[in-house]
Parts: sequence; C-alpha cells; structure tokens
Amino acid sequence: MPPPPDLSGRHVVLGVTGSIAAYKAASLVRRLKKAGAEVQVLMTPDAERFVTPLTLGTLSEQEVLTDIFPENEEGSWTKHVTLGQWADLFVIAPATAQTVAKLAHGFCDSMLTATALSARCPLLVCPAMDRDMYQHPATQDNLDRLRKIGYEVMPAAHGELASGLVGQGRMPEPGDILQRVADLMAETKASGKAQDMPLAGHTVLVTAGPTREPIDPARVLTNPSTGTMGYAVAAAAAERGASVTLVTGPTSLSPPSNVEVAAVQTAEEMNDAVQARRADADYVFMAAAVADYTPADPSGSKRKKTDEDLVLPLRRTPDILKTLGAHKRTGQVLVGFALETDDALEHARHKLEEKNLDWIVVNDPTEDGAGFGSSTNRVTLLRADGASEDLPRMPKAEVAEILLDRVQAAREKNSA
Ligand code: C5P
Repeated sequence: MPPPPDLSGRHVVLGVTGSIAAYKAASLVRRLKKAGAEVQVLMTPDAERFVTPLTLGTLSEQEVLTDIFPENEEGSWTKHVTLGQWADLFVIAPATAQTVAKLAHGFCDSMLTATALSARCPLLVCPAMDRDMYQHPATQDNLDRLRKIGYEVMPAAHGELASGLVGQGRMPEPGDILQRVADLMAETKASGKAQDMPLAGHTVLVTAGPTREPIDPARVLTNPSTGTMGYAVAAAAAERGASVTLVTGPTSLSPPSNVEVAAVQTAEEMNDAVQARRADADYVFMAAAVADYTPADPSGSKRKKTDEDLVLPLRRTPDILKTLGAHKRTGQVLVGFALETDDALEHARHKLEEKNLDWIVVNDPTEDGAGFGSSTNRVTLLRADGASEDLPRMPKAEVAEILLDRVQAAREKNSA
C-alpha cells in the first residue's frame, strides 16, 4: 500500500449522508486522521441509521454534528458559518441522490447542507446510490449542476450494489477518495486560493492574557484573564493567511502553531513588545487584560508579615492602546476590548474616542457566559463611525471569526 499523503494541519469537513455506504465513512475518517488531517464529521439525520455518531466521533476525535440548531446552551447557531470558514476541504461521502439534489438547489435544512452553502473551500462530492437512481436524468442533471457550480464530483464506481443489482452507483473506495482529497489540497495550496486567505500579506498583532505585576519575588498583582479571546483572534487571523504575532501574558493555553509568540509578564514588558512591532501591523487586536496599576516600588526580597495592614503604593502602567492610537498610521486598524460592569456602551464609546480606536469589543464579565474564563462570550461591537452590532452568546472562537469578518470588510470598504 502506498504511504498515506501528508495532510498534517489541514482541516477536512466530512459530510456523511444516509446511504448503506455510510459505514465506509469510518474507514475514510481513519485514513484522513492517519494522514494528519483534523476532521470534523457532519451527518444528516438519515446517516445515523447506517453508522453511529459515536463511531465517527471516536475515530475523528471530534463530536459529530447533525442538527443546525444547538442542543445545549454552549452551542451556537452560527456553527455552520464558522465550520465553512474553518474547512480547507469539504468532502461528502457518501452523497445520496437526496443530498445531491439539495446541494444542487441550495437547500440548507441540516448542519451538513447549511455548512456546504457557507463553505468557501473546494467541495468534493462522492455519490453513492442504486444504479437506476444514479442514472436517472434528474440525478445526472443535479450532478452536472454541481460541476457547474464548481464542485468536484467523483464518478460513482461500478460493481455489485446493495440491492443486488450490478452497475454504476457504488461509493468510490475510501483510498481513492483520500487520494483525490490530497490532490485537491495540493491544487488549492498551489493556486493560493485568494478568497480562502483574505489576510494573506497582512500583518496582525494580537495581545492576550493577563499581566503580572510583581509586589516582591513571591507575590504578584494580576487578574483572572485566561487569554482565550486573544488566542482565538490570533488563530483565526493566521487561518486567514495573516502573519500573526501574539504578545501574551502568562496563560495555560498552547499558542496556535502558525503564529509568532512573544511571552511577557508585566504591562511594561507588554508595552515594549507591542510598541516594537506596531509600525508593521495592519491590524492590532488588544485583547489583553493589562493591569492599570503596578507596585511603585517592588521589593527585591520577600516582604515580612510585620504589619496588620499594608498599604502598597501603586503607579499607573503605560496605556499601550492609547499610545498606539496616538501613533496610528493611515490604513492601520486598532481594535480594543472593553470589560465593563456598568453603563458598558457609554464607557466603551468614550474609550474608543479617547484612544483613537476603529473598533471596540464590549463585554460584561458579570453576565452569564461572558468575560473572564468563560469559553463563550456575549459582546457588542462598536465602530468609530457610531455603528454597533450586538452578537448573541457564542463560543469565543466564533466571536473571533465574526469580529475578523466585520473588521476586514470595513477596512476593504474604506480602502476601495
Ligand atoms: O481603559 P481600559 O483598560 O478599560 O481599556 C481596555 C483596552 O485598553 C483593552 O483593549 C486593553 O487591552 C487596553 N489597555 C492597554 N493598556 C493598559 C490598559 C488597557 O492597552 N494599560
């Protein structure tokens, strides 16, 4: 057997529909994973009659999605959009006559079909159905239509079918599908696919996490920021082809593999790291929870517990974003984050103006499912021209995608 192709780090969405050949999807998932791809399986409800989500979820190491509407509180109804953007390739194997018809006519009644409609990546359709269904002019017309739309269609294989008939209609073998996936990935990479890499050639600077201000060698002033929001913005920008630097305070997160990381501890160090890079940045996302005050006179040795009460003199840290705003160059986009507990929008609007920002992302840490340490966020995007957009509660990775969409679109419009 030839060695598996190298798909390391590539994102594959695999759509599985209700054909007897669905059991072969398990083998395809294994092969894709063996080749190094990250795989997200989507199933139509009928596919679950032929193979269980548990099987495909276990093999893909990712929860299988079927329903477009989230079942639990943490879910988000925009998942089909973010998955469509995440995917480097969308394979539908097996694709039934029903799903082929839906795709050909833009139906989006399941997670699978809605994601297909949102996807910007190449889409590979591997039909599987009985001989006469495959040959029917309606199906052949639909397959032609898919080719016209720009989808790749692998012809069904010839052989014995589940009905006992012999003819064309078998799903192509998983090994052949894997090879077609690898070829398509290589073609996409070679052509650079501008629409999938809208930030190619752009430099993005992101800050994340808390800062840690020393009181003495054993104690610090800090805050509960986990860095999740900033890391999500950095990952999403890198996925879009940007050259990303992540200036991060101490967090327990692993940075995305394709970003340059500058690790810092204090607000002063973060300021140095950011100011040194500001000139090159086309976009700056200042998601870090920077301490506003630092001990004025940190002790070189551990303080003793001599006094009942201790007063620590503090001094202001540099306002990194305000300095960036004061030096903003034409075309540079500055995005701040505001954590407000009362009169959020009014305070945030004031900050946006005071710091000369283009956007500010407002969230309230006292709201359920928002702010520090939560995997989700509920934010409002405020723009310098006065426009605002309330986003529903959603995972921070999705907030990052939508934020990038909006910020990019506004920059493109301004420079048009
Ligand atoms: O004024 P406030 O701290 O609420 O503003 C929040 C925004 O300013 C965030 O984007 C934060 O990263 C940034 N900031 C900064 N330097 C500071 C404090 C906050 O850049 N010293």
